[in-house]
Amino acid sequence: MKDATPRAIRLEDYAPPQWRVDTVHLDFDLDPERTRVRSRMELTRLVDGSAPLVLNGQDLGLEGLQVDGRDWPEDRRSLEPERLVLHDLPATCVVELETVLEPRANTALEGLYVSGGNFCTQCEAEGFRRITWFPDRPDVLTVYTVRLEADRATCPVLLSNGNPVETGDLPGGRHYAVWHDPFPKPSYLFALVAGDLVCQQDRFTTRSGREVDLRIYVQRHNLDRCDHAMVSLKKAMRWDEETFGREYDLDIYMIVAVDDFNMGAMENKGLNVFNSKYVLARPETATDDDFVAIEGVIAHEYFHNWSGNRVTCRDWFQLSLKEGLTVFRDQEFTADQSLRAVKRIHDVQHLRSLQFPEDAGPMAHPVRPRSYIEINNFYTMTVYEKGAEVVRMIQTLVGREGFRRGLDLYFQRHDGQAVTTEDFVRAMEDATGRDLGPFRLWYEQAGTPRLEVDGHHDAATATYRLTVRQSCPPTPDQPEKRPMHIPLRMALLDPSGRPLPLRLHGDGDGEAPPVERVLDVTEAEQTFVFQGVEAPPVPSLLRGFSAPVKLQFPYTHEDLAFLMAHDGDDFNRWEAGQQLAVKVLLAQVRALQAGEEPRLDPALEAAFARVLEDEALDAALVAEALTLPGEGYLAEQMEVVDVDAIHRARRFTRQALGRALAGRWRARHDALADSRGGDAVAMGRRRLRDLCLAYLCAPGEKEALALARSRYEQAQDMTGTMGALRALMDHPGPERDEALADFEARWRQDPLVLDKWFALQAASGAPGTRERVEALMAHPGFSLRNPNRVRALLGTFAMGNPVHFHAADGEGYRLVTEAILELDALNPQVAARLATSLVRWRRFDAARQERMRAALERIVARPGGSPDVYEVASRALA
Ligand code: ARG
Ligand code: ZN
Repeated sequence: MKDATPRAIRLEDYAPPQWRVDTVHLDFDLDPERTRVRSRMELTRLVDGSAPLVLNGQDLGLEGLQVDGRDWPEDRRSLEPERLVLHDLPATCVVELETVLEPRANTALEGLYVSGGNFCTQCEAEGFRRITWFPDRPDVLTVYTVRLEADRATCPVLLSNGNPVETGDLPGGRHYAVWHDPFPKPSYLFALVAGDLVCQQDRFTTRSGREVDLRIYVQRHNLDRCDHAMVSLKKAMRWDEETFGREYDLDIYMIVAVDDFNMGAMENKGLNVFNSKYVLARPETATDDDFVAIEGVIAHEYFHNWSGNRVTCRDWFQLSLKEGLTVFRDQEFTADQSLRAVKRIHDVQHLRSLQFPEDAGPMAHPVRPRSYIEINNFYTMTVYEKGAEVVRMIQTLVGREGFRRGLDLYFQRHDGQAVTTEDFVRAMEDATGRDLGPFRLWYEQAGTPRLEVDGHHDAATATYRLTVRQSCPPTPDQPEKRPMHIPLRMALLDPSGRPLPLRLHGDGDGEAPPVERVLDVTEAEQTFVFQGVEAPPVPSLLRGFSAPVKLQFPYTHEDLAFLMAHDGDDFNRWEAGQQLAVKVLLAQVRALQAGEEPRLDPALEAAFARVLEDEALDAALVAEALTLPGEGYLAEQMEVVDVDAIHRARRFTRQALGRALAGRWRARHDALADSRGGDAVAMGRRRLRDLCLAYLCAPGEKEALALARSRYEQAQDMTGTMGALRALMDHPGPERDEALADFEARWRQDPLVLDKWFALQAASGAPGTRERVEALMAHPGFSLRNPNRVRALLGTFAMGNPVHFHAADGEGYRLVTEAILELDALNPQVAARLATSLVRWRRFDAARQERMRAALERIVARPGGSPDVYEVASRALA
């Protein structure tokens, strides 16, 4: 454990390294109980004078220390709990040191640990300091040579970064392997894997003719689940060449799947380590969503080879430099593999339901944060997803071609360097000539900007005035906000639904004006006057979600229905439907709060009926249009969140739509019954099929539940199985319970599938869910040591089941708080994630506020807690 009151690290305190590590040789004598690590560093002092060498370490001893082959005297070193400082070193020297680790006892899953009996590492952000004393900061780049030694019988496979150099047998049943990585890299990209693994192998020839050996390593029983990951990898490699001219640079690329992993995956140079959830899939065990997620994460980690590894971050405040950019790249990749509009809708839903709340709460921070206690807490939706939106806005401002030129310049200029978000923006400016001066505020200012837009048509002058006002709410440490540079993509639709030519006051008379424009909103208030507008238009605003903002425009129900029918922008057609649904649902929330009976809004019913009958529209888009906004997004629209009323309103509307359009749901469901194939179109059809089933089942009538039950029995794949189970989950009774029991019996031995079983139950809206979650914590398959299991049961309950988590009796909070405290002693990173479920306590009514605050105080007050959890809870209380 770290010191009592953890200290904050500040961006303004950044100082460049005073020593360079020219090479490092690491030698691992692997043993699950006692692993010996020898490190040999060649060092050069970069500054004049006698700057000491500062090495980081955590929970490390020091078994030996030599400089240039001789023991280093005690009085010229100081060994602190987390630092080893060496004084009076020669300006160039060789430092050798030795540490001993206990991988099996490592439950934090940072540094070197054991998963499924195999050794693996996780070093980002600061796990390397749990392996050996080292300048563990991303701006120290070094060439690594790694020697691994282990039992041949239990560890036939020995892997590290770069290229294999040598292998051989040793006495006593041991063997060894040596790996060399020619690319200098920061310590967070180091990895080793050793164990009893098998691999699926393939090849890839790069554009310039390099032959790359591709390998996916898994435990033997998972070998039949690697095809999709391999296909995805090859697609990603080709796509990055074609789209961004980026080619792979080593002769071998390895992916290893492990069952115990704190996050999704890790881009270690040449040796990605993955949460098995993002590798393993067969149609019988993984849903369509799993397949899509795997393709996306495989691509994400691969893309890091350039955006992250070849060009890395100077310090951890710059994390979005690699993460925002790489998320943007993987979003574009997925959009190119599927329906672009559907991908955009999913990304925006994700941003709005998770990042917007983060940006409006006590953990709000800029895309480039200014301070942190535990960097692991800043692998956030803001750094990743909002960071990707910032990159996307740059592309909007400089254009696709300009963006490509900017990225080329960025990679060319900074290859092999550790740089900042400022370097990225400057490359974009230099390559395109576009001034991004004020745009930089997106990196520095937290909070989601609001755009209030109003339109006024003047028939006499045939003009339309669009007035745009922007503001940004206060966030921690940032009470006052400056106006941002917001790209507002828009069009004006005439009464027949056609886009009008957009001639702005001040445009020349030359070329024909475009029918879509990107307005540069830069002031607190701005007016745009469009000429030649004969009749009152309906504006289509923020097309494709051109900026991560909350937009308000006084649309009527009729305007929204009109946009749903006519907007030429697929995203905005969907968005119009969502806005209509939000209005309707919030009206029902108010009715419920006033003790009135809610009623189904005829405009919503009519809109749903029209979409449901539109056979010309892609099934995937139909499914998105017919999905009501989530409870979390609705909660964001309320002053004081009323979880019960939101849940009831949404349930009422689903039931009412299920009844009112029963014949149509059934017809569409049956027409889609046979939807096979792994392509995006087939996936869209299955999604719509299962959505129809869910609406049919929403009212809870016997016939529909029997249909779901038989769909469960006949399901050909996990997508169908889960579709049927989800439709049953809110309806306690024999159909549901038998299906759940059958599922458990069938998949008990399969961790990734069993996670689905836990998550289904934790997400249920049915009464008794909290008791059930508590009972499941005692299930033989549950363990606090496995992050996927914790996320499936407790994460789903705390973040995905607002009515039960926020139950008025406080039992949901109690359950989660106790789990956080217990988990903190094992795995602080995962415990801190779970603790974020409590941070927005100020959004609720007084009684809930009181209970949540008490829970946070209990967490902060506990002696010996981790800095990870402390930081989350103390920020929430500040
Ligand atoms: N760089 C990894 C990714 O983007 C995330 C690893 C973060 N891990 C951590 N423990 N903070 O895919
Ligand atoms: Zn990443």
